[in-house]
Amino acid sequence: MTFPRPAAVVVLAAGEGTRMRSATPKVLHTLAGRSMLGHALATARALDPGRVLVVVRHERELVAAHVTEVDPQALIVDQDHIPGTGRAVQVAMTGLDAAAQADAAGDGTIGSATNAQVAGAVVVIAGDVPLLDAATLHELLEAHHADGNAVTVLTTEVADPTGYGRILREPGTGDVLGIVEEKDATDEQRTVAEINSSIYVFDAGVLRGALGRLGRDNAQGEVYLTDVLAIARTDGGHVRALRTDDPILVEGVNDRVQLAVLRAEMNRRILEDWMRDGVTVVDPATTWVDVDVELERDVTILPGTQLHGATVVREGATVGPDTTLTDVEVGPRASVVRTHGNLAVIGAGASVGPFAYLRPGTVLGADGKIGTFVETKNAQIGTGSKVPHLSYVGDATIGEHTNIGAASVTVNYDGVNKHHTTIGSYARTGADNMFVAPVSVGDGAYTGAGSVIRRDVPSGALAVSAGAQRNIEGWVARSRAGTPAAAAVVRPRDDLSPQARAERDRAATAAGSTAPTPPPVLPSDPKDSAR
Ligand code: UD1
Ligand code: CA
Repeated sequence: MTFPRPAAVVVLAAGEGTRMRSATPKVLHTLAGRSMLGHALATARALDPGRVLVVVRHERELVAAHVTEVDPQALIVDQDHIPGTGRAVQVAMTGLDAAAQADAAGDGTIGSATNAQVAGAVVVIAGDVPLLDAATLHELLEAHHADGNAVTVLTTEVADPTGYGRILREPGTGDVLGIVEEKDATDEQRTVAEINSSIYVFDAGVLRGALGRLGRDNAQGEVYLTDVLAIARTDGGHVRALRTDDPILVEGVNDRVQLAVLRAEMNRRILEDWMRDGVTVVDPATTWVDVDVELERDVTILPGTQLHGATVVREGATVGPDTTLTDVEVGPRASVVRTHGNLAVIGAGASVGPFAYLRPGTVLGADGKIGTFVETKNAQIGTGSKVPHLSYVGDATIGEHTNIGAASVTVNYDGVNKHHTTIGSYARTGADNMFVAPVSVGDGAYTGAGSVIRRDVPSGALAVSAGAQRNIEGWVARSRAGTPAAAAVVRPRDDLSPQARAERDRAATAAGSTAPTPPPVLPSDPKDSAR
């Protein structure tokens, strides 16, 4: 069945949440990559309502700023000092009608002199019920319109209803007579297991009328929204309940223990959806996937993997084990093993890890490799290029089919500014190279092992910067006398080859000399002063 789009969804978020024991407002605590309030707003938007309103009071500035960030169209309304869910909805309705009047006046000014009032369905949900989904609200709206209800409340049965409002039904018809709060209930009423979820659909006119008649004559001295139900029924409206058999959908969070339970449950549901869509999750218990992550068919996720933010994993790729990716795009058939990545793009068929750290701005081309103990940042590494071992590549552009030798570093920071390294295509750089940026290495160039590349290397050249090796004989005995190394020089070793024995003897003889050896003199370079 179709039904008219709801006039508004009101999200209640003015409550205090003291049991979180947190400097962060309760509704801003997160699960699956979103705040609880963010989940509520996303669910609200999914109904395509005329307006979304958020009622705030406690930690008002933080909560309002968050609403503006995640749903700039939402209308923020402030609850005053009067406590209770009924008061929260009173201010929401006043805000809603004021906004409608401003719209009718056409000048965007709230409080204009028209008296337009919103009609239709007003949905009320709470900001701390993160698992509530749009499908359940659709069912609630369907029931509301199908039966021509004044109020439709979502209920559920729980094993321990302590603390909740209880649903009072008329024997026989099952119509809802009203809701009684725990603190106001008789012992008999407290035996009722059907509880109020605090999720409702109201007819706007009925709601407006009833809100004007709410008192505070109850055990808590609060304005109870729940009292609207009995008033609507007394006025002759149909008040009905939709009972869900999935209580966790309507469970609110009061402390961090509940938050952890709901987080695990939300994760379990997210993973189940992906598995049904063709993703292999080897160990759901140790795999965490945020709600906005996108996974394609035949993706395999190995144990100990967390996929956060807007991470996308394309068809046939394998991620994990023990990998954490935030806002990373993993190309088709790529493999990402024991990696920590943030704001990076991994090309089709590329290979990353084990033990790689991809920082923001890393873009690895198709069939490329970022290997073991490699850190990258703001680095474009072209198709088929490889940085296989023990390296840092930051602020760098590497062309295609280039191989970077093990233990190489782009020396990008001079202590004040960052500089760029450019390495061309089909280049082969030696092991243990330092690329002292700004510097570039041309296409097809080679560099020798241990080179410190301070000046550009032209295309096709071999750059060698290490001086010829000089052996300073007897240095250990003279300069490190008494150390195990010095002892090793004179200790007889029967396993030595005749040549090695002769060299050792020569070294031992030289050790008798006490002449100090001057330190080796290195050629100076203008770049030295800057490093
Ligand atoms: C309310 C219901 C109760 C229901 C329970 C479900 C009332 C009177 N009682 O209980 O029947 O079983 O929810 O959890 O409605 N809020 C405001 N302003 C306020 C008070 C609360 O915006 O002045 C918001 C809270 O931030 C929260 C929601 O309303 O999002 C529910 O408030 P909470 O205090 O948790 O519920 P109760 O009033 O105890
Ligand atoms: Ca509550």
